Amino acid sequence: MEWYGQQVVLITGCSRGGIGHSLARAFADEDCLVVATSRSLSAMADLENDSRFFLQELDVQSEENVQHVLSQVLEKYGRVDVLVNNAGVLCVGPLAEVPLTQLKNTFNTNLYGTMRLIQAVVPHMMSRRKGKIVNVGSVTALSPGPWAGAYTASKAALHSLTDTLRLELRPFGIDVINVVPGAIRSNIGNSALASYNQMPQWKLYKGFEAAIHDRANFSQGSKSTPTDEFAMKTVAAILKKNPPAWFSSGHYSTIMAIMYHLPIFIRDFVMKRAMKC
Ligand SMILES: NC(=O)c1ccc[n+]([C@@H]2O[C@H](COP(=O)([O-])OP(=O)(O)OC[C@H]3O[C@@H](n4cnc5c(N)ncnc54)[C@H](OP(=O)(O)O)[C@@H]3O)[C@@H](O)[C@H]2O)c1
Repeated sequence: MEWYGQQVVLITGCSRGGIGHSLARAFADEDCLVVATSRSLSAMADLENDSRFFLQELDVQSEENVQHVLSQVLEKYGRVDVLVNNAGVLCVGPLAEVPLTQLKNTFNTNLYGTMRLIQAVVPHMMSRRKGKIVNVGSVTALSPGPWAGAYTASKAALHSLTDTLRLELRPFGIDVINVVPGAIRSNIGNSALASYNQMPQWKLYKGFEAAIHDRANFSQGSKSTPTDEFAMKTVAAILKKNPPAWFSSGHYSTIMAIMYHLPIFIRDFVMKRAMKC
């Protein structure tokens, strides 16, 4: 078969304009066979006529959907060498008022969605005693600020799960990599704003409305890193024979790594200034 020897990479959240879409193209450029998935095929229409891609509709919140896509991939290629859990949503709102439905939706995508894929794929990787699992976290978890607490908590939990998985899966030959993006130019701000506009008016935080609203696009400034640049570096790290446990790149990634080590009172001071609270 023509794909014998090529790595099969399954990626979630590959809508055009986002990190997943660039990762899909960067893996394909490295001679991988890419199962690019997204909630709607139309969001990946530009990849349609390229034989390097196998396109599948996948909502990570649906167990049934996950099982169906995996069976399609195993039928076609017989394996998954690399799983990239990229799908994610940013949820903006003060924790005292953000609707619990939004909090749950954020965790159900960013955390449980990731776990759904991992629990589905790991038995196959274990049977081959090889594989790579890549979880896409966020630098925001290194120094949690105001107005995106649900998102930040989901990513902090994801970082923690990733650390545990790395140790638990190592005896089975599976590498686990935490990819931690800084500020990357994508659709994340617009998607977050669309959800934000569906939320009720804040009662307790009326006076902070402008600052809260601005949080949706905080990562989308003029200096944010293009997705293609981020994806190229990330794919090079993932495809190494011995990939790193942690790979962080993009605008703000260095400053957030420094913030992580600073005393809390300094972090709070910086965050208060930056996020106007
Ligand atoms: N951009 C940044 O600055 C940044 C920084 C740190 C971490 N990250 C992380 O990077 C990852 C990619 O984000 P991005 O910046 O590329 O944002 P994006 O452009 O909004 O892409 C997010 C992708 O996730 C998909 N998605 C959302 N809910 C889903 C679900 N239930 N099932 C399947 N797919 C779903 C979206 O699909 P739809 O198109 O259908 O909505 C989209 O394809 C996320 O995990 C994000 O948290 C991004």
